[in-house]
Amino acid sequence: MMDKTGGDGSSDAGSEPLTDGCRLLVPFTGRALWPPPIWLMRQAGRYLPEYREVRARAGSFLDLCYSPELAAEVTLQPVRRFGFDAAILFSDILVVAHALGQRVEFRDGEGPRLEPIRSARELQRLDPQGVGQRFGPVFETVARVRERLSPAVGLIGFCGGPWTVASYMVAGHGSADQADARLWAYRDPAGFQSLIDLLTETSIAYLSGQVAAGAGLVQVFDSWAGSLPQCEFERWVVTPTARLVAGLKARHPMVPVIGFPRGAGVHAHRYVSAARVDGIGCDTATPIAALRKCVADCPAVIQGNLDPVALVAGGRALRDGVEHILGEARDLPFIFNLGHGILPQTPPEHVAELVALVRRGEPQ
Ligand code: CP3
Repeated sequence: MMDKTGGDGSSDAGSEPLTDGCRLLVPFTGRALWPPPIWLMRQAGRYLPEYREVRARAGSFLDLCYSPELAAEVTLQPVRRFGFDAAILFSDILVVAHALGQRVEFRDGEGPRLEPIRSARELQRLDPQGVGQRFGPVFETVARVRERLSPAVGLIGFCGGPWTVASYMVAGHGSADQADARLWAYRDPAGFQSLIDLLTETSIAYLSGQVAAGAGLVQVFDSWAGSLPQCEFERWVVTPTARLVAGLKARHPMVPVIGFPRGAGVHAHRYVSAARVDGIGCDTATPIAALRKCVADCPAVIQGNLDPVALVAGGRALRDGVEHILGEARDLPFIFNLGHGILPQTPPEHVAELVALVRRGEPQ
């Protein structure tokens, strides 16, 4: 019988002292758990009718992020419905920009809109002193979720990579090439460095608070890591992520960190070895076997990488995609996930089928 969300007491990892019965954490002990644990990036969201219902009650998207009771509810919804091995805190990477005092709005159908910060002088508009108060409700959400989850189900905290968050703060919206942030970084590297430093320090505090409140693993979403040439990747992605991971681990040495430098390609080796993440998210376009080879000398867990569009399509595309990934991941310390976030048009039945396919664990 299920006493708490997702817990049926059947975990085969119950005797692991380091993982405390939580399947999600087993791959970080170096073991290839089979079938692999599964959760999905952006697993809470508009594709679920129960999310849309709570979202309508909450008012704005940011109101939802800062309402511990409602945010805890939408965090738990996908775990309840699909039996994932992990919940991921419901919040957003741009909460960090908002907590720093930048004007941030989420307009329906348009995505995020921020008041752009284009120079070191405009950085003065931010108020780093205010973050403690703004993060409070997010930490409270983590605590409420942890209390309601079975110990067998992991709780993932997260933040955006400093580079990706900066790219939104500078442009004021999402962009395909992050040209505004790249231009600032080329023209005034020292000024742009102050923004990156501020985001790195704030993200350490943000993740540390989430872990203190009950997150057992954290993921750093660097969705736009793939737009930078080698030296810029080193300076704006690798170095800040290394500081972020070291700062978090100085306070919480045991917490595993997954980095998701989407589009990093051959830079993945440098990212894993220098930033010292415990796991790496594999994006849709990168073959798992190629990433494994690239990071062969680092003991990193690989996570990924089903095409979110194959999940929308369902049927043969979904079955073939899952089978291919399971074939590549067999014998690896691995976590099943998408190669990027779930799309709003995804039919929930396809997600249920995906979980069933992965739990069947074929090919053997
Ligand atoms: O994974 C989860 O379920 C936890 C919650 C979560 C959200 N955003 C909720 C959200 C997480 C982990 C994120 C990460 C995030 N946010 C990223 C990195 C991952 C990625 O997709 O690349 C980025 C770049 C953002 C910034 C952001 N937030 C954008 C570009 C948008 C608009 C796009 C969209 O889907 O509407 C958001 C809004 C957002 N964040 C929504 C959700 C559920 C939809 C807003 C709504 O419900 O009205």
